[in-house]
Amino acid sequence: MGEVVLVISGASGAIYGVRLAQILGKDARLVVTDSGRITLAHECNGLTPEMLSEQTGALLENNDNVGAKSASGSATIDAVVVCPCSGSTLGKLAAGIGDNLATRSAIVAMKERRKLILVPREAPYATVHLENMAKLSGWGAIVIPASPGFYNLPKTMDDLIDFVVARILDHLNRDNDLTKRWTGDEIP
Ligand SMILES: Cc1cc2nc3c(=O)[nH]c(=O)nc-3n(C[C@H](O)[C@H](O)[C@H](O)COP(=O)(O)O)c2cc1C
Repeated sequence: MGEVVLVISGASGAIYGVRLAQILGKDARLVVTDSGRITLAHECNGLTPEMLSEQTGALLENNDNVGAKSASGSATIDAVVVCPCSGSTLGKLAAGIGDNLATRSAIVAMKERRKLILVPREAPYATVHLENMAKLSGWGAIVIPASPGFYNLPKTMDDLIDFVVARILDHLNRDNDLTKRWTGDEIP
């Protein structure tokens, strides 16, 4: 299995990216935008990309280095996941702008027909966000909103986080038992 580029951009919900990095470990190449660095520290108790890389084994790339492996068309990269995905990064991708390693890796994923998973978070969405999501979805990106379901009766914040991360892992074709799968027998 090839590597997964995991981008943490500056939308709220950095914890989703953290959980994904914990599970993917060495299979992940981690790219954190400048704003992602801010939300990561703010929402995750001072966590830095360097600490996250150290703790999970995910290789940290420099977001300023658009020539890094994560943005290579010939490298064995399976997928790019932008989690969470800010409205700003969403807009760049919808416009074809690859001005840093995060956006460039995602644009390369589109041109190479690699899997591109976007996990947007904003509330409410502006029409431009919705149009950009529709555009990117039409081009093959998988849009998984950072909105957990409640039908598994979550008890903790970890349950909510794992709900979203499990859907991402499913689309990365990674076996996981983070959440109970719906059987159809739950509602009498
Ligand atoms: C604490 C904090 C929370 C934010 N939450 C969101 C959010 O949920 N969604 C969003 O699109 N932008 C959010 N932003 C704004 C983005 O960080 C900002 O638009 C930035 O330019 C995104 O850059 P990036 O896409 O390169 O990471 C937040 C910023 C801060 C400081």
